[in-house]
Amino acid sequence: MAHQSDSDTGLEDQRDAGTASGVSNSDYDYSNFYYSSSDDLFAIFGPYDDWWYGTARKNGYYLFSQPMSTPPGAQINLEEQLNHQPVELLNLASYNYLGLSHHPEVIAAAKQALDHYGLGAAGSPILSGTMDVHLTLEKELAAFKKKEAVMVFPTGYSTNVGLLSALLRPGDWVILDQNVHASIVDGAILAKAQVRFFRHNQPADLEKKLRGTTGKRLVVVEGVYSMDGDMVCLPEMVEVSKRHGAKIMIDEAHSTFMYGKEGRGVAEHFGLEDEVDIHVGTFSKALGGQGGFVAGSQSLYNYLMGFARSRVFSCALAPAVTAGVLQALRITKREPQLRATLWSNVAHFRGLMSAGGVDVGDSTSQIIPIMIRNDRRILAIAQKLQQAGLYLQPIIFPAVAKHRSRFRVSISATHTTAQLDQAAAILINTLREEGIL
Ligand SMILES: Cc1ncc(COP(=O)(O)O)c(C=O)c1O
Repeated sequence: MAHQSDSDTGLEDQRDAGTASGVSNSDYDYSNFYYSSSDDLFAIFGPYDDWWYGTARKNGYYLFSQPMSTPPGAQINLEEQLNHQPVELLNLASYNYLGLSHHPEVIAAAKQALDHYGLGAAGSPILSGTMDVHLTLEKELAAFKKKEAVMVFPTGYSTNVGLLSALLRPGDWVILDQNVHASIVDGAILAKAQVRFFRHNQPADLEKKLRGTTGKRLVVVEGVYSMDGDMVCLPEMVEVSKRHGAKIMIDEAHSTFMYGKEGRGVAEHFGLEDEVDIHVGTFSKALGGQGGFVAGSQSLYNYLMGFARSRVFSCALAPAVTAGVLQALRITKREPQLRATLWSNVAHFRGLMSAGGVDVGDSTSQIIPIMIRNDRRILAIAQKLQQAGLYLQPIIFPAVAKHRSRFRVSISATHTTAQLDQAAAILINTLREEGIL
């Protein structure tokens, strides 16, 4: 669909004037946005639009939420949002790590379920929304994860929010790695638990933060951290947590179906599946679908059934998506070579980055951050990359701390070696032209 551009509507010219307070619009970003002292709840909208149309959009914020008109595969079409032009790009920005979002068998399973069940579940899972396909997915996933039970949620975000707010009560402690996903932080806030953060992936600091806490305690780590692509040092985290009598939970959004000999995740990789008390994963990454899950004991499942409010008070996952996810799960079990291809692609791309002298931080995984560390310049560089044919999403605050901006490369099993070579060449040339390398 063609959109009217802001230059057509004249909004850009009107909004260019700056702010009434005299602060330049270009001083704002999502970390410091002006807060109105007016009593009018909507008073913030005017200054926000001034910033958005006058400065932010033109300076590169239009790069967020550009609509894609193809599956999130290696090659995509977008409608570029500054001039509203169609562009064809090499895609290294999607989570579709195994390329399953558009696998023919996944599409066929989803279509069949759509024909059979219709569009939505039309009810909460605890009322009328549970269908046989939901239970099949939960049972097959529990068998795969070697756990008593798995509970499926509508999204990965609502999984963490529902789980943490159900388990923790005011006064309980939750000790979080400082880099955990926003959904974990939001769940802890909703629970009104006492929150402490420990330094990223540092067991000694976890130990320090656990000292002095008493009562019910939960430590939360991720398998592979979503912004830095580094892996948790799980043996040490488990050891410290157990020694202090705390339970430990792992969110394997970016590692389930990829890590471990059988693809069960980082806990399998370390041989610590039984030592970790709660396992979380999502269907939106390696399986290319939507939804999230908690794997653990039958008692945990029973309890969450009544208390995970993000699931109790929300419609069940759409049956067609559920059937597609189920088929994607079956493919990952049947075709371990998908993981092998992913890891060989990761090794190839890492080799290219290392040969080009590109700073990829502490990544060891399919998530490869290209560190820019300059919140303004990254938007200009992202525009150049897009003009050169490469789709890489700039990641800035609030997704990462200020001045920790980076491009997050997501490698997929569906990238060809030629595509990875081409992407690396565009990236390295652009970083050289920009003086980053
Ligand atoms: C570690 C982690 N947990 C949870 C989520 C939320 O998952 P979803 O996008 O499926 O809602 C994400 C999303 O990127 C994530 O990185």
